[in-house]
Amino acid sequence: MAKLLPLSLYVHYPWCVRKCPYCDFNSGRKPSDEGLDERYLDSLLDDFAKVVPYIKGRKLISMYFGGGTPSLFSPRHMACLLDKARDFIDDNTEISMECNPGTVDRGSLSAYRSIGINRISIGVQSFDDQSLRRLGRIHDARAALDACDAAVKAKFDNINIDLMHGLPQQSRTAAMNDLKMSIKTGANHLSWYELTIEEDTAFGHNPPPLPDEDTLAAIENEGFACLLQHGFVRYEVSGFSRDGRVCRHNLNYWRFGDYLGIGAGAHSKLFIDGSTLRRACPQDPLDYMKGHYGQYQTVRAEDLPFEFMLNRLRVFDHIGIEEFTRTTALPFTDVEAQLRKASALGLVRFESDCFYVTDFGKTMLNDVLTMFLS
Ligand SMILES: C[S@@+](CC[C@H](N)C(=O)[O-])C[C@H]1O[C@@H](n2cnc3c(N)ncnc32)[C@H](O)[C@@H]1O
Ligand code: SF4
Repeated sequence: MAKLLPLSLYVHYPWCVRKCPYCDFNSGRKPSDEGLDERYLDSLLDDFAKVVPYIKGRKLISMYFGGGTPSLFSPRHMACLLDKARDFIDDNTEISMECNPGTVDRGSLSAYRSIGINRISIGVQSFDDQSLRRLGRIHDARAALDACDAAVKAKFDNINIDLMHGLPQQSRTAAMNDLKMSIKTGANHLSWYELTIEEDTAFGHNPPPLPDEDTLAAIENEGFACLLQHGFVRYEVSGFSRDGRVCRHNLNYWRFGDYLGIGAGAHSKLFIDGSTLRRACPQDPLDYMKGHYGQYQTVRAEDLPFEFMLNRLRVFDHIGIEEFTRTTALPFTDVEAQLRKASALGLVRFESDCFYVTDFGKTMLNDVLTMFLS
């Protein structure tokens, strides 16, 4: 029988104060409806109760409240969910939540900390007022700094900052200033994303002027060097951690572990008795709240090599040859020829029992991945 993989739980909160013009996450402006959060909680609890039989006897290595803006969901609502999941949680479970600086203060962050949230991810995006306005954010630089300070005071010792670069009209100096400000806050994890213009967004319909290619490359090179100099190791495409504080939840996705996702648009992936099952909840929260949670489907064996690589190659460590078989139940020969080809091109390097993406390969990750499309 195939060994069980590490298990995570994702909880999606689909609403925000307003929709940011660059964002294509499953999120939208929160309607004014008194009982909305209560009804959404009921659906989350009902959905969770129905997935429990799939995970009986297992422990969660991580739990993650993402969004949307989960900091609009009260500590009381989150505590109800944590309570229902308590049989699956132990002292080692990493429990994260995302927050928007415009929706938290020291009091609310302390309340989230006291119900058991032990990792906070702050959606700062930039510490520059003009950039924040252009991004349509609901907070200014002062509020971003205050949220970081409040997180430290609320005794979070596991703090991530989401920061974006390559912002409309952003100079290299301004991008570096954002990075330096983030480093000073005491955060031990940074998610540093280059702004992408997504099709079905306000920016997609009406693109803002972005920095040119040379400026983007200079920001990236200078940024990577600055982060390294301050002890932040790039362990994933956009993830940087200090003192080993990697995000265990995201690492579990990327290492092709198991996860349950509850909430509108949330995805699940479970490896049971050698089969990989997937489920996607409907995107529309109103549909989800009617009790439509989606059906589990078995992933076709021919799709697994690409799915495995799409996730696993994001993490820049050594990938054991046995990992592929352990997480997919497929023989390594299903991916060996493609990996040997990537190796001949200098994109991947083999050692006796593992392989890894080379520095050159990191800059050509999409080319490596297309080799595994069936
Ligand atoms: C789901 S959001 C969570 C945080 C929270 N909703 C907020 O915005 O404060 C996750 C992160 O993805 C990043 N992100 C969203 N859209 C992006 C885009 N188009 N390009 C690059 N990064 C993006 C932002 O840094 C954002 O904080
Ligand atoms: S607050 Fe976050 S999730 Fe909501 S629209 Fe903005 S970026 Fe997207």
